[in-house]
Amino acid sequence: MSSVAEEPYREGLEGVIANETAIANLEGREGSGGLEYRGYRIEDLAGNVSYEETAFLLLHGDLPTRAQLREFDSRLRASRDLPAPLVQLFREIPETAHPMDVIRTSVSVLAHFDPDVNAPPTDHAANVRKAERLVAQMPTAVAFRERIVNGNAPIAPRADLDHAANFLNMVNGKMPSPTMSSAFDLSLVLYTEHELNASTFSARVTVSTLSDLHSGIVAAIGTLKGPLHGGANEEAWKVLEEVGSPENALKWIEDALAQKRRIMGFGHRVYKTGDPRSRILKPHCAALAAEIGDDRWERIAEPIEQIVTTQKHLPPNVDWPSARLYHYMGLDIDLYTPIFAMARVAGWAAHIIEQLDHNRLMRPRARYIGPPNRPVKPLDAR
Ligand code: CMC
Repeated sequence: MSSVAEEPYREGLEGVIANETAIANLEGREGSGGLEYRGYRIEDLAGNVSYEETAFLLLHGDLPTRAQLREFDSRLRASRDLPAPLVQLFREIPETAHPMDVIRTSVSVLAHFDPDVNAPPTDHAANVRKAERLVAQMPTAVAFRERIVNGNAPIAPRADLDHAANFLNMVNGKMPSPTMSSAFDLSLVLYTEHELNASTFSARVTVSTLSDLHSGIVAAIGTLKGPLHGGANEEAWKVLEEVGSPENALKWIEDALAQKRRIMGFGHRVYKTGDPRSRILKPHCAALAAEIGDDRWERIAEPIEQIVTTQKHLPPNVDWPSARLYHYMGLDIDLYTPIFAMARVAGWAAHIIEQLDHNRLMRPRARYIGPPNRPVKPLDAR
């Protein structure tokens, strides 16, 4: 083995290949860039397949046949309920707790009640069953806590509704419009998977010790929470609120850039010329704004997007349009990142299963830059 001093070090692990994966590809056709889930271009999936079909694709390796989808969907619908002690816990966790922390706790609690909790961590079939249950349970957990913390009774999941409509109905207490429901479903499809982003990496590291799937998901949720990753969709909304009016947008962004502020919802470690997810989602923001008859946020967002893209060469990422999209759906700002988590759980689980199917402990090295070797002085001589 070569010494640590001879090995290349890349800050933030930029460009380091830490895994092989058959789940997502950010290289696109002939290295032209883009996003593919298991060989399917995101542009071809978006609008053509539902979140349920996408989750099946990630967990089972290919798009489902009609019969496979029917069975998968009925398993999801049958798994949406939560154990009573978790619902009780939602009443006892302090109201001030961020929903992202509560969904992290929820997954930890759900582990105790999972019928496969004692299966070996490398049991592929048990891991797929655990993953399917989490895909079904996490939206209920997000919605129940939201209702309870706002002093409302939880709305039971409805087995006659699909994944997207059921969630919006459980949170808002009313059926979403078809435009709203399909835009929400699309946002989940776009959020489902993204190769070796920070949260997926932490999930893979966690289970590489032969820890269990739920532990990997808990680690991933904790990692997603930060504003440089999933937390950016909430921060992107705060940008729009701070700007406040279309008239203020140009001055606000020029001042912010002059002050070298980091503009949340822009930039990406891998996509340097644009995030395909943002391009796909943007027209749906405009459509929903038109449906609710309020285009103010679109008129604030557009000049900011133009300036940051042209002056800083930082195109918007997926979190920039999704913040507006969720606002138009009447969702509280602090649900934006938990929604990202309840979508991404299918991708995280697919990676966890892939890791456990071909596991080797992840244990990199660090280059030491501390004081040189020195003697330990007795306490009185220090
Ligand atoms: N606004 C202003 N400047 C930026 C931004 C931004 N959004 N992003 C990067 N920069 C600047 C940064 O200040 C630095 O400038 P300098 O070299 O002068 O110090 C330079 O670009 C490189 O920054 P970096 O943080 O080393 O670059 P990175 O490739 O590691 O950044 C990023 C990736 C996503 C962390 C960063 O673009 C960022 O912080 N964006 C805002 C947060 C955000 O929207 N995150 C969501 C990411 S995509 C989906 C998701 O994971 O949720």
